Amino acid sequence: MFAMLHEKADEVLRTQFPGNTIAIQWTVPKESSFGDASLSLPLQLASLLKKKPREIAQVFVDALKTFPGVEKVEIAGAGYVNVWLTTEALLQELGESESAQSPTKLNKNEKPVIVDYSQPNIAKPLGVHHILSTVLGQALCNLHRHAGIPVVGWNYMGDWGTQFGKLAVAWEKWGDKKKSIETYTLDELLELYVRFHAEAEADAALDDAGRAAFRKLEQGDKELRAFWKGVVTVTKASLGDIYERLHVKFDTDIGESFYEDKMVPILDEGKKKGVFTEGKEGALIVEFPEESKLPPYLVQKGDGATLYATRDLAQIRYRIDTYQPQSILYVVDVAQQLYFQQLFATAQKLGWELPEIEHVVFGRMRFAESKMSTRKGTVLKLEHVLDEAVERAEAVIHEHRETIQTDDAAALAEMMGVGALVYGILSQNRKMDIVFDWDKMLSFDGNSAPYLQYTYARARSVLRKAGKETSTPSFPKAIAALTQSERVLIRMLLQFPGVLEDARESRMPHLLATYLFGLCQDFNAFYNVDPILLAEGSTKELRIALTAFSSNVLKTGAEILTLRVPEKM
Ligand code: ARG
Repeated sequence: MFAMLHEKADEVLRTQFPGNTIAIQWTVPKESSFGDASLSLPLQLASLLKKKPREIAQVFVDALKTFPGVEKVEIAGAGYVNVWLTTEALLQELGESESAQSPTKLNKNEKPVIVDYSQPNIAKPLGVHHILSTVLGQALCNLHRHAGIPVVGWNYMGDWGTQFGKLAVAWEKWGDKKKSIETYTLDELLELYVRFHAEAEADAALDDAGRAAFRKLEQGDKELRAFWKGVVTVTKASLGDIYERLHVKFDTDIGESFYEDKMVPILDEGKKKGVFTEGKEGALIVEFPEESKLPPYLVQKGDGATLYATRDLAQIRYRIDTYQPQSILYVVDVAQQLYFQQLFATAQKLGWELPEIEHVVFGRMRFAESKMSTRKGTVLKLEHVLDEAVERAEAVIHEHRETIQTDDAAALAEMMGVGALVYGILSQNRKMDIVFDWDKMLSFDGNSAPYLQYTYARARSVLRKAGKETSTPSFPKAIAALTQSERVLIRMLLQFPGVLEDARESRMPHLLATYLFGLCQDFNAFYNVDPILLAEGSTKELRIALTAFSSNVLKTGAEILTLRVPEKM
């Protein structure tokens, strides 16, 4: 950002304060009373050089004062340098920030980021809560890809464990043998599973049978393997539709079963290194130093059975060996926080050279309307919630039928309904509880998908009328002065590249959503105050370019958040 300013400031840094590795970073201040570009560098330099920050700032001010494109420059606060740009310089900057609207070319030399997300368990339909990891993970994949960083989007399926033994027993007892397992629906499988649990309450022998069946499956029993494969096929087929509706795509869906034969070497390694020690009844555990406050971590049961934890360890090893990733991000809810602390601490104890490894935690889903909460023992299915969102969007479209224009109300309802749900989640700080509130999600004038979609369609409609639907924005060379709302909008647009970077680096997609909401507000204020189509000459040229630019940023940002935006609405 601010390429010309940057060069000048860099020259000052290198000639006046040589011999340090501090990098210059310009930001766009939130308030326009702090100028268009701001530098906190003097503060960093001061603590390094043990000098007064304001004195250092003065050196930069003096150098930038006479620089072309700079209207005014001031020292602010403890030693910030705030710069006001001329209109020409602002517009030039804006033109240069345009590259952020398209994805950066993939940098094949960079190591990949692995994003572990969605992670449903096989043989069960997706519950509403699955949407959290699914869309947060996809937004993180998109943010990295947009920056040209290689990504491995990984749907780590829960496709292994005693539950398959239980399901196999249920199928054996109550299943319809005339039907092949592949023709079962997920609901029918769930029914079998639920029945198993109900009957096992009265008959403990069933649980034993389930465990025995899983052991047989682990040992490679042909019939059970075929059954298990069928269940995996049925589940994956039904997940596909939902992922498509959510614009979610994975690079791999290697699940827990894949690590079956990769755990023994890990267990051996851990024993040899003295990291895995014998716990109660022959179990293998990991113990941590007292000050870490971590309870022991179970990696193998007394009967030799492996666990979720054992598979996750084998998986870290596999991911490092296969991908040499720069980082592994686990997008998993807060309930597994302790688990991941233990997992990472164990990998460290094993002496593995680890990439950056992070539990990208998110809060629980809370429902604004109590009737939304799940009935006891049953899950609220994501598919049904998506359908309900679309139905509600249909109702909203109907309600606004006088003003909404669309050629395809059904497609718009799908885009709006699904978008509302997804945006409703991604616009919230993931570290807090995530509140599910239909009215807020579908509102037309709040921080919501419909508001974003409506604003985009409004901008596109202006461009259509101007006959500039397909052209790239071109800014006039000179403009007398900017109106207040033009200037506010330009400053907002300038922040897009920085926001993408912040959202990516902090793994906080809501920063992007918050930004897009602000941009919608600034665009609408500009639209309401400054005539666009009725303006003339370079003013009209500028306003149309700003409209095109805004619509492009909105679309790029929305799609990174997995949303789609309509040409008409
Ligand atoms: N399937 C797991 C669950 O439902 C989540 C998996 C998270 N990823 C991982 N590598 N452990 O609890």
